[in-house]
Amino acid sequence: MIQPDNPSLLRFIVDRIEVGTFAVDQEMRIILWNRFMAVHSGRGEEAVLGQKLFECFPDLPRKWLEKKIQSVFILKNYSFTSWEHRPYLFPFYHNRPITGGIDLMQQNCTFIPVKDANDSVTAVCVTLFDYTDTALFQGRLKLAIKDLEAERVEQGKLIKKLEEAHNQLLQSEKMASIGQLAAGVAHEINNPIGFVNSNLGTLSKYVQDLLRLLDIYAQSEPALASEPQVLAAVRKTKQEIDIDFLKEDLSQLISESKDGLNRVRVIVQDLKDFSHVGETDWQWADLHKCLDSTLNVVTNEIKYKAEVLKEYGDIPEIPCIPTQLNQVFMNLLINAVQAISEHGKITISTRREDDWIKITIADTGVGIPAEILNKIFDPFFTTKPIGKGTGLGLSISYSIINKHGGRLEVESLVGSGTTFSVYLPVQQPKRNPDDQAAGPQPC
Ligand SMILES: Nc1ncnc2c1ncn2[C@@H]1O[C@H](COP(=O)(O)OP(=O)(O)OP(=O)(O)O)[C@@H](O)[C@H]1O
Ligand SMILES: [Mg+2]
Repeated sequence: MIQPDNPSLLRFIVDRIEVGTFAVDQEMRIILWNRFMAVHSGRGEEAVLGQKLFECFPDLPRKWLEKKIQSVFILKNYSFTSWEHRPYLFPFYHNRPITGGIDLMQQNCTFIPVKDANDSVTAVCVTLFDYTDTALFQGRLKLAIKDLEAERVEQGKLIKKLEEAHNQLLQSEKMASIGQLAAGVAHEINNPIGFVNSNLGTLSKYVQDLLRLLDIYAQSEPALASEPQVLAAVRKTKQEIDIDFLKEDLSQLISESKDGLNRVRVIVQDLKDFSHVGETDWQWADLHKCLDSTLNVVTNEIKYKAEVLKEYGDIPEIPCIPTQLNQVFMNLLINAVQAISEHGKITISTRREDDWIKITIADTGVGIPAEILNKIFDPFFTTKPIGKGTGLGLSISYSIINKHGGRLEVESLVGSGTTFSVYLPVQQPKRNPDDQAAGPQPC
């Protein structure tokens, strides 16, 4: 039968439990010191009882501990410290030091007010629980979480790379089909243009010959005086067809047709240049030619909505993948024109800034609200209606420019317009484009 008021039983329990237990009076004299404290401190009960705590153990954090104990005396309430905030009170060695990492015992401490019959606190009992195992597990858990977090970051990076590759693939497929279409159309148009052009040359020569003959006939008109009927018919027809205007207009018509044909030829050439989609080689390229050929390809989209101003500076050819830059210029130009609601201006400027070529494409469109400005380069971010935009144009452009060692920047003011700036290095530091390119080539 357990006697709760049996002092020797209570003392037995206090000594046997694996919890450090000691008590101090108001003068900080030790009045209780259990076996756990004796074993771990190396100081038995007989050596410390009646002694002042801080004289016996000068290494204790006196200022803090004194305050803690005093507060229990005054407030008459339990107090607690966790190993996570203060790893230990007494520098005891851990029971199983081999378990790794932590040598000193991690302690959770409770400060218990010991009250007399008048509810006055006569002593403070302090208990020390060994939390080293928990601390060790927590440490391992933290390490495992850290590893997991690192893995998560790594996975995030991989997913991003995968996403980029996927987008790049989508866009290049899109570009490849545009390119194929363009190349096919260009090829089909090339043939008829060839013979129309050649026919037009012959026609022009025939017309000159006929006009020459007509002049001779005109000179021989007086000889028809004896044939008044014929002369009258000739004069009537000349008047009806307005021969002077016809002669003048004929050559103009032919020369205008030649001009028109030439323009078609340039467009076809641009389409062919633009459609070299398969080419991924680094080449020396004239960016003005890249811009012009791209501009011609998208001219139909632009010409009814925007006036295009070119402010081309003096820039050198640079090593690049021209078809990819064409793709960037096309994305920026299409975005610019799509941002213009009625009619506006698109200004393309180029200049050299130290070791960089700066190409800006500025529009007078609606502008980009500040709150979405940091999202526009995200894949699939679009404000355009379903079916009109995939939201890939800028993210692809960004990665292409990045691949060229350059940067793509944007400035925008809602209601005024947007300027995209492409910076490309004059030199490619890591690659040697001469190895791959046959020499400077147009885009
Ligand atoms: N010049 C611009 N003026 C105003 N907003 C722009 C301009 N350029 C891009 N944006 C904004 O950035 C978004 C993302 O552009 P991005 O080119 O990546 O995709 P998209 O044009 O919507 O679709 P896609 O290019 O795939 O057809 C656009 O939806 C638009 O809101
Ligand atoms: Mg776009």
